[in-house]
Amino acid sequence: MASHFIIECMDCGHKTPFIASTSDCPNCHSTWREAIYDYNRLSKSLLLQVSGRSFDLWRYKELLPVRSIEPAVSLGEGGTPLLRATNLGGMLGCPNIFIKDERQGPTGSFKDRQAAVTIAALKEAGINELVVASTGNVAIAYSAYAARAGIRLWAFLTSLVPAEKMREVALYGTQVIKVTGSYDEAKQVAAEFARQRGIFYDLGTRTISCVESMKTLSFEVVEQLTALLGPPPSSDKTKPGVTFFAPDWYIQSVSGGLGPVGVHKGFQEFKKMGFIDRIPKLGIIQAEGCAPMVHAWKQNQDVAIPVQTPKTLIATLATGDPGRTYTVLRQKMLSTSGGAFESVQDEEAFRAMHYLAKMEGISVEPAAAVAFAGMIKLIRAGVIKSDEVVVINCSGHTMPIEQKIIGEGWSRDVKPSTKDLESGSEEGLLSALTRESIQGFPRIAIVDDEPDARRLIRRILQSQGNYTIFEATNGKEAVEVINREIPNLVILDLMMPEMDGFSVMDALRKKPETAEIPIIVLTAKELTQSEKVRLQGQIQKLMQKGDFLTDDLLDEVKSLLR
Ligand SMILES: Cc1ncc(COP(=O)(O)O)c(C=O)c1O
Ligand SMILES: [Zn+2]
Repeated sequence: MASHFIIECMDCGHKTPFIASTSDCPNCHSTWREAIYDYNRLSKSLLLQVSGRSFDLWRYKELLPVRSIEPAVSLGEGGTPLLRATNLGGMLGCPNIFIKDERQGPTGSFKDRQAAVTIAALKEAGINELVVASTGNVAIAYSAYAARAGIRLWAFLTSLVPAEKMREVALYGTQVIKVTGSYDEAKQVAAEFARQRGIFYDLGTRTISCVESMKTLSFEVVEQLTALLGPPPSSDKTKPGVTFFAPDWYIQSVSGGLGPVGVHKGFQEFKKMGFIDRIPKLGIIQAEGCAPMVHAWKQNQDVAIPVQTPKTLIATLATGDPGRTYTVLRQKMLSTSGGAFESVQDEEAFRAMHYLAKMEGISVEPAAAVAFAGMIKLIRAGVIKSDEVVVINCSGHTMPIEQKIIGEGWSRDVKPSTKDLESGSEEGLLSALTRESIQGFPRIAIVDDEPDARRLIRRILQSQGNYTIFEATNGKEAVEVINREIPNLVILDLMMPEMDGFSVMDALRKKPETAEIPIIVLTAKELTQSEKVRLQGQIQKLMQKGDFLTDDLLDEVKSLLR
């Protein structure tokens, strides 16, 4: 077996070689163990060894519990893109948000990392049968890799797992056991089944290969950030040798907590070897209906009280009893990097799904959206500062979009007139569609001389509703457009060349047709007292650019359109 590291018991300190089929300490039988590598040696050689390798999960294989150079089970895992969230960042006034796009793994979630490393390690150890319990994505990822490796897999799924996910598991040839009950109950049944039959059971945060696999996220992220942002500021004189840019935050939706445990260990190892100069803060986000870690953290408790009956539609995140993983994460936060545990309502996650899809072109499953909703919440609360560098794990792909997420009114029904039909032309149908789309939605004019500002406002509006939008790039054009289109609302910038926002406002208020149109002024200008007086009674709302909160703008727009 791999010999480039040892396993140390977290309870008694006993050290053993790694044996993939063993789950506990031979001395005290604790299942809480950790892989320790020769960091001193690796700090000298690793980056040189790595430099010529491809950018995938095996790039840092010296820090993984597998030996074979190209594990036969590979499906092209890891090496996912790190995308700057330009629009979302603009909306939140936080320009340095980066999305680690784990949807692009072989089965569409970050659990591919766990499955790839664990199945590779088990295969090396000659194990050919395995039991997992899962809320869906673990079972899908393990199924793919087990199929490829010729390992027989038993997947115990809580009955809450959506049918589409269960069918995908079955497609790979996995033995699917549906446990009517919670995820915690499914885990108990799975553990007992494995024990009775003597089959290896994957313990998640207590399985060495699972924790180790998640480190690859941190390794990739710091390399990618360095390519995007340059070396860390401290790398010049004060701390020579620091190579990579570590983010201020790593944010993830959490169920059992494997991701942050492994990612944090990855950062710690890189710090130990001098490759980074700090350990990012963890942002651990849970669904409010199943947030035992968040509740324990907020009550300053070292042990989480299990949630017996999770009350969330997001079954993927329904670990009611995090056990000692919470305590481990809490210790990590307290002793190294700091961070936050936060929860969000299902509705907030669904809303974040819209933001992400409509503003960044990224469609995610609800479990991943929980992280984004949590990040938005932490930014708004000032916990995440606007100048901080945030990496967020976009942990899983789109599910079939259910009605409860998308709501009503997402399709346009076109009813072509007999005339349109008779003409038989595509043009006739298109004009019917144009009529419909222009008729149905509230009409908003956006007046701003900066194209980026117009684009951002348009995107914010369209992220949560259907509007017909007109744009004007200066004051003169604005007056023309507004007189012609008579919108239901105007969003107006103040500082513009030639004719400024004040003059536009005066022109609109003078004419009876436009005098009543509500105006939201959105400005970057620090207003003087006399300017404020000038706006009084003329406009409905004054908002400061940069720090206006999306929901505030949307709420204002909705209430003015009512
Ligand atoms: C898409 C997605 N996000 C987040 C999580 C939570 O992962 P963790 O095991 O790190 O708590 C899961 C777990 O299955 C998941 O599938
Ligand atoms: Zn021990």
